[in-house]
Amino acid sequence: MNVDFVSLKRNYELYKAEYDEAVKRAVESGWYILGKELESFEAEFAAYLGVKHCIGVNSGTDALILSVRALGIGPGDEVIVPAGAYIASILGVTENGATPVYVDSDEFHLIDVSKIEAAITPRTKAILPVHMYGQASNMAVIADVAKRHGLRVIEDCAQCHGSTWDGKLTGTWGDIGCFSFYPTKPLGAFGDGGALVTDDDELADKLRLLRNYGSRVKYRNEIVGVNTRLDELQSAILKVGLKHITDTNRARAEIADIYLNGINNPAIELPKVASGATHVFHLFPILTEKRDEFVTYIKENGIGTQIHYPIPPYAAECYRDQGHELKDFPEAARVADHEVSLPIYAAMTRDEAGYVVKIVNNWK
Ligand SMILES: Cc1ncc(COP(=O)(O)O)c(C=O)c1O
Repeated sequence: MNVDFVSLKRNYELYKAEYDEAVKRAVESGWYILGKELESFEAEFAAYLGVKHCIGVNSGTDALILSVRALGIGPGDEVIVPAGAYIASILGVTENGATPVYVDSDEFHLIDVSKIEAAITPRTKAILPVHMYGQASNMAVIADVAKRHGLRVIEDCAQCHGSTWDGKLTGTWGDIGCFSFYPTKPLGAFGDGGALVTDDDELADKLRLLRNYGSRVKYRNEIVGVNTRLDELQSAILKVGLKHITDTNRARAEIADIYLNGINNPAIELPKVASGATHVFHLFPILTEKRDEFVTYIKENGIGTQIHYPIPPYAAECYRDQGHELKDFPEAARVADHEVSLPIYAAMTRDEAGYVVKIVNNWK
């Protein structure tokens, strides 16, 4: 049997008629930027999360960059970030000239909230948790620390559409939640896309200006902005995905259950879910010490895998000037050295998951 790491084509085919209708409607409208599809998607996504405002942009990276900018964070300011994150989470900080201050991961591959206070300095302006792989970070502690130290909170929700901490959705805890709609994400477009969500009217207004050349009225530019708008076609497509997100998240949860209950190879460390958190399993990360051998073996058995991520941002070539080495954050380094993501996506079958379990368990 062959099991793809992900098949976006099969995900599309789950709701093909609805996607085709949405694409046709958007194309035939003759209106492609800042129109009714975006407006209605923003309203529907805000309603899904239970927030006041959603602002659609070109990507999750742009959402992160604009979130830091809208909060007035820039050169000389520090933002506390997880050491075990994706590069885009940190680009949001450095693109604004601010400094990321890394905190190591915990056993859930998320920012270790017990180490955040020690990283706060007089220059700290915000905490930026990243809900890695689809699991919510401990937002109760993060919100409490932020409140006590007068810090803002930006949530990187690129991988966690629909996950909760203490029953409250990720993206609704912080001042701003930043989402990616990259095609593989729990809510994916058929191209790039992203969004910011907030309950703050002033921030929402600023973000709307920032994404559109700093302009509210055509050719009148109130602030220096950029051009990063979620287009009509992607908005129409995302409305279909959003309509089915409970089912697609459930489908991945079922695959995750098959893995969690079925894999019992002592050489494999399974992902843990914190009490208080829900996990939407955007990815299913396992850890194994002999990663190269495992990847070769599993590939020979027809199963696709990926590594998320082999080099953590603090050790990335582009951030050499920050002066960190891989070993500086031991838990993030351990994940970077040992992580392998198994196939998991909405259209994947239980039979395919069962085959993956069998192959993983047979590995010695
Ligand atoms: C944790 C995280 N943050 C940010 C991003 C950036 O999102 P995008 O690819 O839409 O720019 C991604 C997506 O790849 C991500 O996984």
